[in-house]
Amino acid sequence: MIKIAPSILSADFSNLERDILTLEKAGADMLHIDVMDGHFVPNLTIGAPVVKSLRKVTSLIFDVHLMIDNPELYIKDYYEAGADIITIHAETSKHLHRLIQTIKDLGVKAGLALNPATPLCVTEHLIEHLDMILIMTVNPGFGGQSFIGNMYEKIISLKKLLIKHKRQIPIQVDGGVTLDNIQKLYNCGAEIMVAGSAIFNSKDINKTILLMKSLNGVQI
Ligand code: DX5
Ligand code: ZN
Repeated sequence: MIKIAPSILSADFSNLERDILTLEKAGADMLHIDVMDGHFVPNLTIGAPVVKSLRKVTSLIFDVHLMIDNPELYIKDYYEAGADIITIHAETSKHLHRLIQTIKDLGVKAGLALNPATPLCVTEHLIEHLDMILIMTVNPGFGGQSFIGNMYEKIISLKKLLIKHKRQIPIQVDGGVTLDNIQKLYNCGAEIMVAGSAIFNSKDINKTILLMKSLNGVQI
């Protein structure tokens, strides 16, 4: 079933509580929290103290997307702040296996994110340990960018790889997800759709989330 993970990157940072409660009421399945460090990506967003404060205002699943160098130094902070899923980037660590294990040992779900240019083969020997794989469909760093067209093929290939390994973990897609491409993304095998600008810039957040969730179809 399709799941919607609105990204708070496009929310009003002076009214985060209000915006999160709007998403919760609208039926969002989880909250996608973009953490950027100004090193791994050319933008700086929020850190663990903000996540900890937000934990007090909602029971939504916290899907924390770490776009940071040296993630091993911060994983515990995000766990203690209330993360339910911690996703790290394959490009940020020489010891991915150990890092995924560290996340899982804390009792939270571990996701692995791949930049558009990063090949799927990096997942191959980790697949059995992962709870989610995030395919970046834009180069990370900013909201509101355009979807990179050839990522459909990457999603299809990943779905096939998961089937081959008999792993029923969700594929998450992030970047440039809109009402226009969400159906195709689902058909290609993506299940968790991150959307920032398509939700927050829409006239009616409730209606947009409802429409996104109502799409369904046949996956490969
Ligand atoms: C980009 C972030 C995304 C971003 C998506 O680096 O990881 O989560 O907020 O924004 P949209 O949906 O506007 O592309
Ligand atoms: Zn993200």
